[in-house]
Amino acid sequence: MEDALKVNPMPRIGDKAPDFTAVTTKGTLKFSEFNKDSWVVMFSHPADFTPVCTTELTAFAKEKEFFQKHNAKLIGLSIDSIHSHLAWVNNVREKTGIYMDFPIIADLDMKVANLYGMLHPGESSTAAVRAVFFIDPQGVIRLVLYYPLNVGRNMEEIKRILLALQTADKYKYAMPVNWKEGDMVIVPPPKTLEEMDERIANASYEKVDFYLAKTNLN
Ligand code: BEZ
Repeated sequence: MEDALKVNPMPRIGDKAPDFTAVTTKGTLKFSEFNKDSWVVMFSHPADFTPVCTTELTAFAKEKEFFQKHNAKLIGLSIDSIHSHLAWVNNVREKTGIYMDFPIIADLDMKVANLYGMLHPGESSTAAVRAVFFIDPQGVIRLVLYYPLNVGRNMEEIKRILLALQTADKYKYAMPVNWKEGDMVIVPPPKTLEEMDERIANASYEKVDFYLAKTNLN
């Protein structure tokens, strides 16, 4: 009987990002060293030289300065060879002028894709789905997105998520629906009757009621 593809469970929010060493377009790297003192946005794509993937990875490349400014490193992955990656990066540079110069993992043995739950056999057993992992400088997975093969990701949402996570960490507030930089943030709801009475009496927040209060940052 043929061996069924053994698929790892998906790493979850709050899990330590699994460490690995991999061959990439920027040389061999150890993930825990790459992640040191920096956020990492790690994303998989189904295959090199495919149209949706090309739109997505060029979009990441175009936002290089945004991610640098916000202390986040980019790293891609697909189940393709390093030769394929190099040829694709060069072809995209020649055709569009966009240089995808972040590391892209050549995961031919599917080791990293499997570690990160990027293989969803119902969608494809040979290609990674479109995953995005947001990993903080402590190496903790903070948010995960999974998209199927036929729907490209939203770069504005990816940038918004990074800012929302960093803002939540810095100010200890939460972000409401559709939050974007500059918007009001959510003050965590009270946990005791005393805190509730303080909240009811506090006129400095924009309040719907004691459990839904917003404030401006700074
Ligand atoms: C694409 O990127 O266009 C693509 C890749 C794999 C399957 C379907 C579409």
